[in-house]
Amino acid sequence: MEQAMLARAYTPLRVGPVTLPNRFIKAGANENMSLRGMPTIAMLKHHESMAAGGVGLTTMAYLAVSKVGRTLPDQIWLHDGVIDELRAVTDAVHAKGGKIAAQITHGGSFVTGVFVPGRLQSSVSGFNPAGLLRGNILRRGMTEVDMEHMVEAFVTAAEYCVSAGFDAVEIHMGHGYLLNQFLSPMDNNRKDAYGGSAENRARFPTRVLGAVKQRVGQDIAVLAKINVADGRRRGANVDDAIITAKLLEAAGADMLVLSGGRNVESGWFMFGSNMNLEAMYRVLGKWSLSGMAIGATAKSAPAIDFRELYFWEYSKKIRDEVSLPLAYLGGVKSADNVAQCMAADFEAVALARALLREPDLVNKWKVRPEEPSLCDNCNSCVAYIYHPGGTWCIHRPANLLEDNQLLASSGGV
Ligand SMILES: Cc1cc2nc3c(=O)[nH]c(=O)nc-3n(C[C@H](O)[C@H](O)[C@H](O)COP(=O)(O)O)c2cc1C
Repeated sequence: MEQAMLARAYTPLRVGPVTLPNRFIKAGANENMSLRGMPTIAMLKHHESMAAGGVGLTTMAYLAVSKVGRTLPDQIWLHDGVIDELRAVTDAVHAKGGKIAAQITHGGSFVTGVFVPGRLQSSVSGFNPAGLLRGNILRRGMTEVDMEHMVEAFVTAAEYCVSAGFDAVEIHMGHGYLLNQFLSPMDNNRKDAYGGSAENRARFPTRVLGAVKQRVGQDIAVLAKINVADGRRRGANVDDAIITAKLLEAAGADMLVLSGGRNVESGWFMFGSNMNLEAMYRVLGKWSLSGMAIGATAKSAPAIDFRELYFWEYSKKIRDEVSLPLAYLGGVKSADNVAQCMAADFEAVALARALLREPDLVNKWKVRPEEPSLCDNCNSCVAYIYHPGGTWCIHRPANLLEDNQLLASSGGV
């Protein structure tokens, strides 16, 4: 291992107006630690433990920019009433010396857990298979006026994040949510200036980022999470991702977090491994509607073997084409992997499953770099997104069910 390169990961990183204490990011991983749109005690403890374990920037996943932008019923959405609770979480992270980002998102037509009256907003109109479970069966292509409103929703959400003490916002442009529905030709077949070429498909997401940057860029870092590819033949490929990355760089993005895949069509690509159906059935019930839907989708996936740094080739191509800071993500499992990312000029590394397995992994690698992550890629954690105790690694002690209550009820805010 190149010791100097690993040491670099432990040096501060300036991202826009913020300096991260090191280059390790806890990637957004839906915590399911919220009730009726408010964070729970478990949410606070989870992110506090990440900061205590040495993570430089932990990411609170999946905050909807508006109530109708939610995908799941208990998901947090950004509004006046949640700021104090979020502030309790950001304060706890800061007290441990870490920084915290809010991943902000809008589901668009990917709304699996709530019914949204009217047709769901997306890049295009028509039948919406992803919404079948909750009766959201139709979507409509956004108009210019819709886009203006949506830009404002993202900007307002980012302002709430500033008020709540976040150090960064990460605008979610991957995995099949609204902004990805513009980027991906799997959804977007518009014939106007927002469809067709990769430049056109990136136009609206870029506008969102530019507006957020303009409004809050002095106060917090503005990141975007993008797909290096969708992992399907008809999907966006790495050449598209390079164009998106260049446009986001020009619009003022402070850093990109590189991911891949889409929740419905290519979850296996996102995780570099197949879903754990047994765990899904255990948590959701095999004969529940969600269980059956996930089972059907997973069965059509190709069988693939997990490989460390599974997005490497794609991410390197993007690295070669842009100069803004990039966080490598996907299968970081060892200090060697981290050193390799630093040597290849990625400014940061983002990890999800390995940190769910060992929240103190960053501190561990500082003193025992020869010890790999204990995560075995079983992907059970992905199923536990749906568990009332919150997202959990089955190789660890279970989350305390008594932590599944609102922070306010504990006197925490
Ligand atoms: C339990 C779990 C929940 C996730 N939820 C989200 C999410 O809410 N938003 C997101 O952008 N990515 C989510 N992801 C994807 C991760 O951010 C990351 O892209 C993926 O796990 C690959 O990184 P890894 O190999 O370090 O785990 C989730 C991953 C896991 C394991």
